[in-house]
Amino acid sequence: MKRITLTQFLIERQRGKKLINADLRLLIETVARACKAISTRVNKGALADVLGAAGTDNVQGEAQKKLDVISNEILLEANEWGGNLAALASEEMELPHPIPTQYPRGEYLLLFDPLDGSSNIDVNISVGTIFSVLRSPQGPEATEERAFLQPGTSQVASGFAVYGPTTQLVLTVGDGTHGFTLDRETYTFVLTHPDIRIPADTQEFAINMSNMRRWEPPVRRYIDECLAGKDGPRGKDFNMRWVASMVADVYRILSRGGIFMYPRDSKNRDGRLRLMYEANPMAFVVEQAGGAATDGKQRILELAPQKLHQRVAVILGSKNEVERVTSYHAG
Ligand code: F6P
Repeated sequence: MKRITLTQFLIERQRGKKLINADLRLLIETVARACKAISTRVNKGALADVLGAAGTDNVQGEAQKKLDVISNEILLEANEWGGNLAALASEEMELPHPIPTQYPRGEYLLLFDPLDGSSNIDVNISVGTIFSVLRSPQGPEATEERAFLQPGTSQVASGFAVYGPTTQLVLTVGDGTHGFTLDRETYTFVLTHPDIRIPADTQEFAINMSNMRRWEPPVRRYIDECLAGKDGPRGKDFNMRWVASMVADVYRILSRGGIFMYPRDSKNRDGRLRLMYEANPMAFVVEQAGGAATDGKQRILELAPQKLHQRVAVILGSKNEVERVTSYHAG
């Protein structure tokens, strides 16, 4: 079977479909190259002395792992000199990162969570990188926070890499969701999962059950009904999975369906996940694969961001299940 590389895939979208321009293509290729470098470091683990804590806290007040810091640096270094970005923002940095003055500036803004699920690194469970690309708006300076505060519908590309048994890159530029596998012999991403579709129905849910006592009634109702299985109102048994790496949980949902929930609760009143680095890019990928993503009340991609590091409730995956949970919130 003839397979194409990420570069060929992007050139088709540039020349043929005219969906992206050369700058956006180069930007996506640069992010992909950084993901390969991160994958290599994650893979070496203790051999490269990259496991364990960095001894610093990030802007969210969370203890950083060495690999959080390394991955952030890899992404910054890879992207700041290419000439296609106006500024960058990272989950690990309080403020947007300007393009150093010696390099040209471009028309895009890049946002990323350099190493999602990093509490899983030391226990050898999949982690990943999530990214989102926006156009730099007219008006505010690109390095001002408000330049980044655009709804998810304004994303021109988003995706994520999962560093698991294989390294996968999942990408959308607005014409479906496509998956690439890193070929470690040629060091290229190869299109192995074109046009991913999420089944509309599922019998699998993903949620951190230890928060159950803190959930709001609609989420409790939904999970209670799943747990009641064949004997309950749903009339079918459900299975549960929770990797605690959003990248791995979303990848599973793209592969075989399911619903992922990190709802707001009495401890995390605004939700736990980040709108700009996690919810928006994942919502774009999931919707492009035929799934749905809401915060329980509204479509995630239509939320108007107020802050760069804003948190949000996330319910995404198989369309009929997401719509059911959302209807419970409305009720
Ligand atoms: O935001 C980071 C993250 O690790 C996600 O990747 C994951 O879905 C979630 O947090 C796990 O949270 P918890 O540790 O509460 O299960």
